[in-house]
Amino acid sequence: MTADELFEKLGAIKIGGSTCLFTREKCEALVPQINEINRLKKEKNAIILAHSYVSPEILYGVADFVGDSFELSKKAVETNADVIVFAAVKFMADTAKLLNPTKEVLVPSKNNGCSLADSITGADVRRLRTEFPDYTFVCYINTTAEVKAECDVCVTSSNVYDILERIPNNKIYFLPDKLMAKNAIVELKKRGAHKTIKYWEGTCYVHEDYDADMIKYLRLSYPDLDVVSHPECNEEVLAESDYVGSTSQIINHVKDSKKDTFFILTECGLTNRLKAEIPGKTFVGSCTMCRYMKSNSLADIKRVLTTPDVEDRVDISEETREKALTCLREMFRYVG
Ligand code: 13P
Ligand code: SF4
Repeated sequence: MTADELFEKLGAIKIGGSTCLFTREKCEALVPQINEINRLKKEKNAIILAHSYVSPEILYGVADFVGDSFELSKKAVETNADVIVFAAVKFMADTAKLLNPTKEVLVPSKNNGCSLADSITGADVRRLRTEFPDYTFVCYINTTAEVKAECDVCVTSSNVYDILERIPNNKIYFLPDKLMAKNAIVELKKRGAHKTIKYWEGTCYVHEDYDADMIKYLRLSYPDLDVVSHPECNEEVLAESDYVGSTSQIINHVKDSKKDTFFILTECGLTNRLKAEIPGKTFVGSCTMCRYMKSNSLADIKRVLTTPDVEDRVDISEETREKALTCLREMFRYVG
């Protein structure tokens, strides 16, 4: 890849301060590392899977596939690579390992948590199950393998409402995202599905900060604004939104929308992708970054491809893997 080719992809990105501002000179400085990583990928038969929130130089320089949690988990099943480098957060890499026990799965970031996944442990779920024995336990994919191992069905932001609606049991314990649970209660009521939903008190620290007043304020200046939000936001935000979806569903919505100006209420890596991939549209609002996703770097990707240490390798015990896999497979059984 040349600096001109990289600049052509990244030049349109201009939000989030200096992190996401790409000059021709910056691209020139990034290209040697990008080319070295791409060479290492071939040498090791490695694939790089990246979430849309990670930095643009990873998405457009070295990633083989970029997507939302559901698409990334499907891609992890399909790959023939020997090594999967997961440029995202740990729970996503865990999912890849659950589906590919014989492959090496590497996590480049050293700060690879997630405020949702870190809010609950396997022991918490075991305790809840004794308290609510007749409930079906549904976990958001933003959970560790240990937590999935204690649950019945996994969901992602792209299929949460459909799966909850189809679960035969009317008593559901949803974890760990309380805002997504409250949104599900509203949506299932609209669909006429009668469910009792209890939930854990976790939140995404990025999405919980958005509020409906921001939307009302921007609508004053942009009356024809298309407001698009992620289901990790609160219910007032969703009520003011024109569209709600997973990160990839949001991209498809913006591509298809007849409107020109958008307010995207999710981590600003997604707005960067939209700017890079859909020219001619205007994006308003502020930038909020996920500190975990943004801690992935080209330097760390190169490091795990050359000298991975034990902490970079995803390792899940066979007992946990088997139980967590049953929970994940239930998701695929519901939505294919
Ligand atoms: P998506 O599955 O919609 O990409 O969401 C993942 C996530 O962590 C959102 O904060
Ligand atoms: Fe977790 Fe929120 Fe970051 Fe997504 S944006 S990885 S939910 S902390």
